[in-house]
Amino acid sequence: MSVEIKNVDSGNVAEIAALAKIIWNEHFTPIIGKAQVDYMLEKFQSEQAMKQQLKDGMKYIAVYSNGELAGYSGYKLEDNALFLSKLYVKSEKRGLGLGKAMFTYELNTAKNECKEKIYLTVNKHNANTIAVYEHLGFVNAKSTVTDIGNGFVMDDYIMEYYI
Ligand SMILES: CC(C)(COP(=O)(O)OP(=O)(O)OC[C@H]1O[C@@H](n2cnc3c(N)ncnc32)[C@H](O)[C@@H]1OP(=O)(O)O)[C@@H](O)C(=O)NCCC(=O)NCCS
Repeated sequence: MSVEIKNVDSGNVAEIAALAKIIWNEHFTPIIGKAQVDYMLEKFQSEQAMKQQLKDGMKYIAVYSNGELAGYSGYKLEDNALFLSKLYVKSEKRGLGLGKAMFTYELNTAKNECKEKIYLTVNKHNANTIAVYEHLGFVNAKSTVTDIGNGFVMDDYIMEYYI
């Protein structure tokens, strides 16, 4: 299997938004419900929203397996940390090392930029993903509830990886 990581820019962000729609509908509908998935996709993962995030300093990378788009990740460099905002692999491509390949790219970026840690938020009921993050070396730091408008909240753990 050939694995390639590419930067996402305004040229290929449309295919990332299309992939986000597939992954989010499948994975998050049982966890947060269809209405919140639709709302969050539109607010955070539509082509337009991601183009704005790219302008605001968010970086997106995409992973291709044998030339086919299989997942994507978003991160932002902050003063002392790399904020890992998104990490998603298509369901049929999970367990093949693609998530770890993107995480390793981000870990190397954080090291090159002399950051102290990587942190992320993950839904408290996203058990399998929490297990993956723990396996990668993240520790659960605290709980957080974030109001995202329209009566919806993100009910998350904050997990940290110390470099
Ligand atoms: C989380 C996710 C991105 C991981 O990607 P992936 O490609 O399946 O992960 P990998 O195959 O690279 O595995 C990463 C490591 O976790 C381990 N792992 C996988 N499933 C695991 C589990 N249930 N428990 C513990 N470790 C697990 C793997 O063995 C691997 O470690 P290794 O390299 O030491 O063997 C992917 O499962 C996903 O998209 N999940 C759904 C969406 C989601 O919840 N995203 C995160 C939102 S915050």
